[in-house]
Amino acid sequence: MRAPLRLAVVGAGRMGRRHAENLAATSACRVAWIVDPDASARAFAAGLGAGWAPDYTPLRDVDAVVCVCPTALHPQAVGAALDAGKDVFCEKPLALGLDATRALAERVGASGRYFQIGFMRRYDPAYAAAWREVRAGGLGRLRHLLAVSRDPQPPPESYVRVSGGIFLDLGIHDIDLLRWLSDEEIVEVHAQGNVGEAAYLARYGDVEEAQALVRFAGGATGTMLLSRASLYGYDVRTELWGTAGSLAVGYLREPAVLRGDRSGLHAQAVPGFLERFAEAYRLEMADFVARLVDGRPSPATEADAVAAAAVADACQRSLREGRPARIGGA
Ligand SMILES: NC(=O)c1ccc[n+]([C@@H]2O[C@H](COP(=O)([O-])OP(=O)(O)OC[C@H]3O[C@@H](n4cnc5c(N)ncnc54)[C@H](O)[C@@H]3O)[C@@H](O)[C@H]2O)c1
Repeated sequence: MRAPLRLAVVGAGRMGRRHAENLAATSACRVAWIVDPDASARAFAAGLGAGWAPDYTPLRDVDAVVCVCPTALHPQAVGAALDAGKDVFCEKPLALGLDATRALAERVGASGRYFQIGFMRRYDPAYAAAWREVRAGGLGRLRHLLAVSRDPQPPPESYVRVSGGIFLDLGIHDIDLLRWLSDEEIVEVHAQGNVGEAAYLARYGDVEEAQALVRFAGGATGTMLLSRASLYGYDVRTELWGTAGSLAVGYLREPAVLRGDRSGLHAQAVPGFLERFAEAYRLEMADFVARLVDGRPSPATEADAVAAAAVADACQRSLREGRPARIGGA
């Protein structure tokens, strides 16, 4: 495809605006359209020099589509992009629930279009360095991976209602990290959790705190610790434990300043995902565009989206039933 590409961004909320801004700063593409039924997106689009549309009509008029609308609408938005014959980037998770994810992945596969799912942690420089270290054999054989993701507070009830549960909505990033870093599939999980302070979560079978023990096909094990009540900030860390060494990825301070005084040491915590993964989001969009221009394959495919959703589905099942669950099985 010839640069500069013309792109449409579907959904201009928290994440869509960040992607659109990053794309607008990429010389190999232009943001031609912002698609969002909320009229407040018009001014945002104008600020980027893009057109605004409340529906999918402009998708015919672009080279590729970046879908960042609410997860429940991904099948509709990705479907509209594929029907228009366009290449697609879609935010995680691909769809709400495993059946819908599989159905949409099949549609993507049948279309033959380029497709990339938004597993942006793969682009974070620290996680990318860890991945290279594992591939180079620096840690020996991996024995255990620990993935921690803690949000400062639970999302609002309106979001929780249609988010698919903590493992699909939040844990999907950790599940992808575990698969991607180990290059192994997860075969069994045992999840636990508790509702905590946010009682409304119980109405949707959701929880504030969740843990899952996982077993990989090769025998290694892993642990996921998820929380929506970290209070101090956004706490995302991963530890890789191998026969030849270990790696700890992630940090808690931003800015990287530690102040000392009579009452002790003080620092500000990383406030949220937009700050912690700012560079990853930037690199992700630049790489998406570069791969389309160069004709290179996707680094995070619909198959990765399905594999991660299958693990999240097993975690939700294990949490519900109070016993271990096999991936794709009972
Ligand atoms: N990779 C990450 O780190 C990350 C972080 C946050 C969110 N996400 C994902 O991004 C997606 C959006 O999340 P968000 O937090 O930006 O949500 P949001 O609620 O902030 O924004 C969603 C936007 O979509 C718009 N919208 C609603 N219906 C639409 C339609 N039919 N077509 C186009 N736009 C429509 C809304 O008006 C809103 O502006 C979700 O799938 C979420 O899981 C990913």
